[in-house]
Amino acid sequence: MNVMRQYCKRQIFSLLRHCSLTCSQRRLCSRENSGKLLSQLQAKIRFSGPITVADYMKEALTHATEGYYIHRDVFGQKGDFTTSPEISQMFGELLAIWFVMEWKMAGSPDNVQLVELGPGRGTMADDMLRAIINFPDLRKALSLHLVEVSEKLSEMQEEKLTCSNSSTKTSTDGSSHYKTCVSKHGPSVYWYRDIDEIPAGFTMFVAHEFFDALPIHIFQKTDKGWREVLVDTDPTADDNLRFVLSPTETAASRIYLKVEPGDNREHIEVCPSAGVTVQYLADRINSQGGCALIADYGHNGTKEDTFRGFRDHQLHDVLVDPGSADLTADVDFSYLRKQAGDNVKSFGPVTQSHFLQQLGIAYRLKILYEKADAEGRKDLISAFKMLTSPEEMGERFKFLAILNKNSSHDPVGFDPPPEEQ
Ligand SMILES: C[S@@+](CC[C@H](N)C(=O)[O-])C[C@H]1O[C@@H](n2cnc3c(N)ncnc32)[C@H](O)[C@@H]1O
Repeated sequence: MNVMRQYCKRQIFSLLRHCSLTCSQRRLCSRENSGKLLSQLQAKIRFSGPITVADYMKEALTHATEGYYIHRDVFGQKGDFTTSPEISQMFGELLAIWFVMEWKMAGSPDNVQLVELGPGRGTMADDMLRAIINFPDLRKALSLHLVEVSEKLSEMQEEKLTCSNSSTKTSTDGSSHYKTCVSKHGPSVYWYRDIDEIPAGFTMFVAHEFFDALPIHIFQKTDKGWREVLVDTDPTADDNLRFVLSPTETAASRIYLKVEPGDNREHIEVCPSAGVTVQYLADRINSQGGCALIADYGHNGTKEDTFRGFRDHQLHDVLVDPGSADLTADVDFSYLRKQAGDNVKSFGPVTQSHFLQQLGIAYRLKILYEKADAEGRKDLISAFKMLTSPEEMGERFKFLAILNKNSSHDPVGFDPPPEEQ
């Protein structure tokens, strides 16, 4: 075991030396909202009754014209939140190294699809490709596939991944992707609205802060049994929405709610879309080969009341002005593992700090630090702390890996900490 770990460490350090040595720039933008979605939702509720939190969250985030993600850049200091890939290039580079290792462990197949779910500004994909192209065999074998519902964000991803004279083609020939281009790093890039449009073949999936954006149902324990929390209009104020409890069981409470013995929570959040997505990943990895790396904030089936909104980096009432704020809920990793099932091997969740330390973030920091000017060095140290410190993102964010059942190794980054060995 120790020999394997030493081997992996040497591999990581040698792979990290190959990554590019420059710090990348981050871009910022702003937004506005019309209040149209609130009126539409109120009309729908008046017509057919209260809606589930899942329906509300889905509309607020991805409604075709008014959804939060659809028309704006929501990231960075001038947006509503900042994510790890936006904090430092080290994040995407280290994830790239993880995939290089997994590709090698799978026998270096000569056709590989790297799929990112919910790529945001495309920063992580760009950082990953820049690191991966230093491995010529993988560069030749690789194509990049982005699953993105937001047209605006897909434009930003395209801009990030191509150089100005690239020609992007919108698909009109019945292909499953909606556009394609050649990235400035070499590999071709394809965009899809749905994960099940990705062509068959050996596929490595990555999802960072994707699962927390998928719609959840909320259930509450009552004297009459578990009841679903719904969103209703507020009879006392025209512009308000409010939470109500379903008077009887709902289809969702009958199908999705499974309360484990000893679970004393009063509220339970369930994300069926996350379950379906993980089942899909597991089926593909099992039947066609590949792996998945899922990173998000989350817990192991222990937390309640994690549904919240963010606007301008502040907590925001989830029912106020839908479409104007990010809505999110912590990912239940125990549920994801269960949904992945026994036909694949699951590892983790481990904390972000643990994962990045094992992938050699300190070593990567040292390489970048030596090349940076005084300002760059300050930024690097602050990014390192933000990504790994337990008080910042180091503990709250977790990593889960899924490998093919026939794989005979443990993936890097998922070793237990020394005291548990
Ligand atoms: C919180 S952002 C994370 C972005 C990026 N991964 C990062 O960490 O910076 C969520 C991303 O998922 C996309 N998204 C949300 N719901 C989606 C869905 N149902 N299908 C595809 N993409 C979705 C959003 O448009 C956005 O790109």
